[in-house]
Amino acid sequence: MIHSLLRPDLLALPGYVPGEQPRAGEAVKLNTNENPYRASDKVYEAIKAAADRGLSRYPNAMAQPFREAAAEVYGVSPEMILCGNGSDDLLTILTRSFLDRGQWLRLAKPSYILYKTLALLQGGHADEVRFLPDWTLPESFGQGFDDGRQLKLVYLPNPNSPSGTVLSKETILRFAETLPCPIVVDEAYADFAEENCIDLVKKNAKIMVLRTLSKSYALAGLRFGFLFADPAIIEQLAKMKDSYNCDAIAIAAATAAVRDQDWRQANRAKILATRRRLTERMRQLGFTVPESHANFTWNVHPDAGVSHKEIYLYLKERGWLVRYMDYGQCGDGLRISVGTDEQNDAMLDCLEKYFKK
Ligand SMILES: Cc1ncc(COP(=O)(O)O)c(C=O)c1O
Repeated sequence: MIHSLLRPDLLALPGYVPGEQPRAGEAVKLNTNENPYRASDKVYEAIKAAADRGLSRYPNAMAQPFREAAAEVYGVSPEMILCGNGSDDLLTILTRSFLDRGQWLRLAKPSYILYKTLALLQGGHADEVRFLPDWTLPESFGQGFDDGRQLKLVYLPNPNSPSGTVLSKETILRFAETLPCPIVVDEAYADFAEENCIDLVKKNAKIMVLRTLSKSYALAGLRFGFLFADPAIIEQLAKMKDSYNCDAIAIAAATAAVRDQDWRQANRAKILATRRRLTERMRQLGFTVPESHANFTWNVHPDAGVSHKEIYLYLKERGWLVRYMDYGQCGDGLRISVGTDEQNDAMLDCLEKYFKK
């Protein structure tokens, strides 16, 4: 049996299941928090120019043009930036760099499901700390174990997925001060929030900040993420990555994207306006919706007779794909991405019919 050739702990793992990716035209995707708009024209021009220059040579191993552009935009030095093939690539690099077999990675629950999978793939354990009902975390989130277990890394999405809620910078700094290990603030959605933690990286070297172009730059298909950390950490993490983890097209496109902050700001304004509309209409339909600081909302119907799974299936059959999330003891709900006004309004009209039936 071919299975016997593989690592037994790998065979035992369920594996991470990404959100559904229907074929083009099959459904309107409101399930994986992609941006509904086309990225800046400057990105497409950069892609064409990179292709015209030819692809016979390897790209810059550290994606240096992007590091330099992003350093200017974010007010850090290029040595504080590591680039990856999406932020998922950087999460893999981080987990492999900090977590050894048998050691512990802490994460908030419910949050991004991939974190736990990465810990288990590494032969480590996941310490899942539940959010409190108001979507804050207990102080114990910022403390090490007192029973000999070795805590080596903490992942905290801020804004969090699926809730869209945020923890304050003061809270995160306090966690970093009391933790025995680094904390990675996963800011995949921070461009839709009011503040971010990039300046904290200089205040406390245990804080790292992870970013992606997948959401606020509308480039999920490109695969480009970047990490801010102390240069001494970046230097070591670079040993763990594939030599050329970002390709020449992606580096050129990402550099153009980060330089076009006017595009990003204009896009942000549109997403925030649609988010307001979506939140209000979901609340009118009776859902409890925490105030979102991201490009999606988390919708839980308080009526026990309402089935989130059934609503998800109802919408899916009619061409609207939202994300049904079942977190077991932490409950279930619907995570709905902010699309265009037209997409969200049409989905909401369909949902209204469900409640009238
Ligand atoms: C919290 C969080 N982190 C990271 C990612 C991965 O982003 P990327 O497309 O950069 O791999 C996602 C994607 O949905 C996410 O929700």
